Amino acid sequence: MDKQQNSQWGTRAGFILAAVGSAVGLGNIWRFPYVAYENGGGAFFIPYLFALLTAGIPILIMEFTIGHKYRGSSPLSFFRLAGKKAEWIGWWGVIVAFVISTYYSVIIAWAIKYTGYAFTLKWGQDTKDFLYGDVLNLSEVPGEIGGFVPGVLIPHLFVWAIVFLILFGGVKKGIEFANRIFIPLLTVVFIAIVIRAVTLPGAMIGLQSFFQPDLSKLTNATVWVAAYGHIFFSLSIAFAIMITYSSYLPKKSDVTNNAFITGFANSSFELLAGIGVFAALGFMALQSGLPIDEVVSVGVGLAFVAFPSIINEMPGMNVIFGVLFFLSLTLAGISSLISIVETYIAGIQDKFNISRGKAVFFGVSLSMLFSLIYSTNSGLYFLDTVDYFINNFGVAALGLVEVVAIVWVFKKLDTLQTHADAVSDIRLGAWWRISLRYITPAVLGYMFIDLLRLNIM
Ligand code: PHE
Ligand code: NA
Repeated sequence: MDKQQNSQWGTRAGFILAAVGSAVGLGNIWRFPYVAYENGGGAFFIPYLFALLTAGIPILIMEFTIGHKYRGSSPLSFFRLAGKKAEWIGWWGVIVAFVISTYYSVIIAWAIKYTGYAFTLKWGQDTKDFLYGDVLNLSEVPGEIGGFVPGVLIPHLFVWAIVFLILFGGVKKGIEFANRIFIPLLTVVFIAIVIRAVTLPGAMIGLQSFFQPDLSKLTNATVWVAAYGHIFFSLSIAFAIMITYSSYLPKKSDVTNNAFITGFANSSFELLAGIGVFAALGFMALQSGLPIDEVVSVGVGLAFVAFPSIINEMPGMNVIFGVLFFLSLTLAGISSLISIVETYIAGIQDKFNISRGKAVFFGVSLSMLFSLIYSTNSGLYFLDTVDYFINNFGVAALGLVEVVAIVWVFKKLDTLQTHADAVSDIRLGAWWRISLRYITPAVLGYMFIDLLRLNIM
């Protein structure tokens, strides 16, 4: 009885917190601000909102409905949806989730390492040294594994220990419990950081450049592609994750409304992150006298190079600011990582019919072993390569296959709509159907062809 109860969410809020926990991650804090900045600043909000409303939320509703209706891990849900010929779509998602878990975990290990380091504030002048020097000790030479970086290896093993404990606790007493603590804490910490950032001298310089719309970018297809790509990553959709999480919903649960709440919560977080990060960059521009586009560095560099230097220069309370910033990355990262790992643990459990405990033990050990390669000196090099491959081929291609299979091959849109409408307050109509039938396949199809063109031809 108790065991049964522990394999479902205890409350609606518990499910929403877990879904938001999965969605709000490293992507919101370091990825969104620079993607928006590079793709037209304020003008990016137009393709972003379009992608959210025509792909993000419609697919989220679809995945919540699949999980809720078929009540299984992603492979099992697809099997129940259309038999053996659909099951592999679920496995594709499981494999993508597995690969992401291996490198996502090491970024969290860096954040933990930096949280500790922020206490000392011995960042020094050239913060690039953190990556390649004292702190992370990564190699700039690709392919040279070198050895383990001890300072990273220990936090990395610690990340896996936490993930193991949370997942071992079960859906309600593990995942839901952890998110009930992490997400409110993350929200409070993050709002504190943003308030501090926007009150720094120079904040306006940053905000202006973040919001300043470059409307000419709107006619550029890559900007639209970037918006779609980001929405997929940011909402954790087309990874089998949201199907898994919604399979633990009680029978009576509103799926449509939950999807809207999750989608808007994730976007609010992203917007807040953009404001905080750019306000801090504006401060940096003022301090250094450099134009803003020279202080904006992309990717890993934003959180792990630019931020430490900002923290260093900050007037008063910079220790607290630094600790809180890296703590928020850690919390956001762990709540996403547990959703990724849960996805393939659920797949393993259903397929081999083993106990949850065994599946958790086996799944976490396997991920941990593979993830150790990123704890070596060449970690960053492997990470960049795998991340690029996964984001593009894993996500864009899988999203396309998933939507086309459900809508056009197995023709399940009506079945899913009937199910969602039966349990939800909001009725699904033309907006949902047109988005999934035409808009999403067209945009993802274009993205995929473009990707092949860039990589092969
Ligand atoms: N949505 C998470 C983020 O924004 C990333 C993520 C991707 C989480 C895939 C789970 C699975 O960072
Ligand atoms: Na996100």
